[in-house]
Amino acid sequence: MAEVEVDQDLCIADQVCASMHPDIFEMGDDGFAHVVDGMEELEDAGDIDRAKEAAEACPVDAITVSE
Ligand code: F3S
Repeated sequence: MAEVEVDQDLCIADQVCASMHPDIFEMGDDGFAHVVDGMEELEDAGDIDRAKEAAEACPVDAITVSE
């Protein structure tokens, strides 16, 4: 199990996370990335890998994936 979070104070709306994995990350009306409802806690190993991939791609390290 892994918990996924986007730090709204760090996000600069680069959008790479939502482009890479729109099933996990979406851009909110506020212009910043959010974790898609129901994807805050991931069980699936593939989903966890995808969330980590997005975290690595984020230019400001706004995404954390904690296991
Ligand atoms: Fe924000 Fe990083 Fe995604 S800046 S939009 S969390 S890639």
